[in-house]
Amino acid sequence: MDISDLTKLKNKEIVNDLRGWVDTIRHHGGLMFFELRDHETKVQIVTDNPEQFDNLKNEFYVSVTGNLVKRKKENVNKEVLFGDLEIELSNLEIISESKTLPFQIEDNIETDEQIRLKHRYLDIRRKEMNNNIIARSNTFKSIREVMNKLNINELDTPTLIKSTPEGAKDFIVPSRKSPGTFYALPQSPQMYKQLFMLSGLKNYYQIAKCYRDEDSRKDRQPEFTQLDIEISNGDPKTVQKIIESTMKHVLKTVYSIEVKTPFTKITYDEAMSLYGTDKPDLRIKETITDFTNIFMDTEISFIKETIKNNGTVRGFLINKLLSRSEIDNLDELLKNEGSPGLGWFKIENKKVSGPLAKILNEKENNELVKNDNCTMLFQSGKQAESSHYLDTLRRKIYSIPSENSYEFVWIDDFPYFEIENGELQPSHHPFTSPKDTSEFLSNPNDAKALHYDLVLNGIELGSGSQRINDPKLQKEVLSKWGLSETEINDRFGWFIEALSYGSPQHAGFAVGIDRFIAEMMNADSIRDVIPFPKTQSGLDPLNNAPSNLSILELQEYNISIESIENEE
Ligand code: AMO
Repeated sequence: MDISDLTKLKNKEIVNDLRGWVDTIRHHGGLMFFELRDHETKVQIVTDNPEQFDNLKNEFYVSVTGNLVKRKKENVNKEVLFGDLEIELSNLEIISESKTLPFQIEDNIETDEQIRLKHRYLDIRRKEMNNNIIARSNTFKSIREVMNKLNINELDTPTLIKSTPEGAKDFIVPSRKSPGTFYALPQSPQMYKQLFMLSGLKNYYQIAKCYRDEDSRKDRQPEFTQLDIEISNGDPKTVQKIIESTMKHVLKTVYSIEVKTPFTKITYDEAMSLYGTDKPDLRIKETITDFTNIFMDTEISFIKETIKNNGTVRGFLINKLLSRSEIDNLDELLKNEGSPGLGWFKIENKKVSGPLAKILNEKENNELVKNDNCTMLFQSGKQAESSHYLDTLRRKIYSIPSENSYEFVWIDDFPYFEIENGELQPSHHPFTSPKDTSEFLSNPNDAKALHYDLVLNGIELGSGSQRINDPKLQKEVLSKWGLSETEINDRFGWFIEALSYGSPQHAGFAVGIDRFIAEMMNADSIRDVIPFPKTQSGLDPLNNAPSNLSILELQEYNISIESIENEE
């Protein structure tokens, strides 16, 4: 029996063998009270014979027998779910004792995350964590419901594979049977889901584990979960419709939230110019204003230089006078992000003030005083460089509505390539179709991709694209990416071969499920919605993974770790 089944019993009816953990023991007026907590909720237990239970401690797992009492109205504890019920204890059996706890099983604890992760099974006993994990389970169920409704095949793919490029480093697994060779764990099932389309399957989905050896952050884990989809004969429109139906269904069934579809759609260029980012938070309505025109004949030297180099002066006109310390704090925030500093003017009673006010020419001054009692904040520079600072500024100066609002937006028309850490990278992955093949072939650096992202409340929730189904174009893309003929053949020859036997057009998408649940549950980090996550440094404090192998074990894999042995 569960605690929630007690509501089916009558007053004074006997409750037999109700099991749970002992939570919060209290003594009062010769009586002893404790709460019995099961997987779902709690109920109060009372005894007028406290001496008999002297050895009882928090988190003992017990079986309770007694009489159910439906409390009088004035005694009902409205703060808890079953506050109208109580059990008068007649017998208690200790099933399992508990050691002293490393932290209390309650919400809002300030325990170090390392300790919570070391005892994750205790951490998940806490209601707020338990809610997150149950929401995760319900999200999976709801995804499967909608996928079944849409008749999409659930198919699985291997996890010991040859590397898939998704922009991170691979986790590698040594092969014992072929010494000196390694499998990679999939960064995503990308190539396998495409193979399903080439195999004649109509569609595919999988709740897939993905592995990327990159630095962990609040929204990144080395091991994470995607809802991965691929549709044969699909295009961006078909795929986006399926994702919208999925989001609508999951939000409604799991989180009781109605969202309108279709979602808003903007291009990458619009996103960068209005919001300074390809992950705009549309809960904030204010957008970036371009002030460049005001400064066309300026004497302010750094702005003059910017305009000469085809840069812009962009920012926000805020309808209030910020204090000097508010401006200084924003300036520091931007400098910490790498900006040379925050430009600003205050316009008060039609008079402009600020460090640059004295160098304003008459035209600039006249333009600025068209507004009054407001503050202009700006960044001057190349659009690509200043965008990030303007995004930071926008998220800082404008508040997000306090009620739970959910703003989805599609971003499309991404550049095909971007420069990351000084290297040319496909902004999605190299299986993405260019928007216009001839444009791509003649000028790949400026070409656009049939790549689309879904953003929720300023978070990149997922990505997808139309795929290349022409082996020649696939080879061309890999070569424009900078791979030599030999590298193309070694790494992707098998895949190009697979594309060469009549390939339907196909398109797909992957939603980061951990990020989605974290946003819906208002969790600070995706670690709070993953049952057994890794720390920032990629470790698992629960069992100390990753761990050393003995020399003998390593020999079986034909591996010797010379550098570490030498260092020691
Ligand atoms: P992409 O690499 O953009 O696309 O990943 C899709 C989504 O997965 C989530 N995600 C992560 N979540 C947690 N930790 C991580 N380290 C992490 N990395 C990514 C994000 C992201 O938007 N194969 C393509 C999809 C496709 O083209 O169909 C892919 O994996 O929410």
